[in-house]
Amino acid sequence: MLPATGYALRDENRPYADDPAWTAVEIDFKRADHPLRTERVLQGLVFDYVSLHTLDLSICSPEPPDVKYLDALVEVAHENGASAITDHLGFTHGVKGGAGVGHVMAPPFTQASLDATCRNVEVIQRRFGDFKFYVENLAHFFAWQGEIDEIAFMTRVLERTGCGLLLDVTNSYANQFNFGDSTQDFIRAVVPAANRVQMHLAGGYFDQRWGRYVDSHSESIPDDVWSLYEEALALGCGKVDAVFIERDWKFPCEQGWRNEVHRARHLAELVHQRSSTAEYAT
Ligand SMILES: [Fe+2]
Repeated sequence: MLPATGYALRDENRPYADDPAWTAVEIDFKRADHPLRTERVLQGLVFDYVSLHTLDLSICSPEPPDVKYLDALVEVAHENGASAITDHLGFTHGVKGGAGVGHVMAPPFTQASLDATCRNVEVIQRRFGDFKFYVENLAHFFAWQGEIDEIAFMTRVLERTGCGLLLDVTNSYANQFNFGDSTQDFIRAVVPAANRVQMHLAGGYFDQRWGRYVDSHSESIPDDVWSLYEEALALGCGKVDAVFIERDWKFPCEQGWRNEVHRARHLAELVHQRSSTAEYAT
């Protein structure tokens, strides 16, 4: 199966949605669920694959997400013809209605946290019904000390719940840069553990003051990330549903938008052809 490829939809890339390489779209829940909206966020645009991305499920919180929020996600997914809903392997708040941390944070990688996360994912999947749910790996600001590492935590969530993996290649690349975690090790462990996969690609910058790679979604995708993407495609061959490029500021010109989605598509086709040839030869 050839993955669908495309962008996280923004007003700035909407004019190029006609590009033949752009076959999948990711829509952002906050934009799609704007209370004053009068029409679906996709308006007249049509894609082979639509995925709804959200930030507030807080799947690693001690308590499951609010049912009202889950139902609102399902409604927006229906409205836009989405087949998938995604969020991060992290938390934004502790108890329901309590203070938020303002960003999705990775949980402490402990058995208690793993158990709560798996229970929450199961609650979410039951409520979502036929909509496929995927969890995304984060770029970390800091790493909690835990009983197990991120790889073990993510693979156990995937294996215990059967949910999909949203592999953010650049997030893992940032963790390698900032914390010395191996992106190859991460990809080689988590992709085989997943039944189905989506991917995120983006570009960030190196912040001299902090000595950190910042996953800012503001730059072109680095060559190292393209290489890792190719490896992940090969490992996940046959179960990668879609690949989305994320760009949130310092937007490129028209050709810039078109070039990156073409490169994502070209590599997906290349890996697909290679695997078809290998299958035919055996
Ligand atoms: Fe991402």
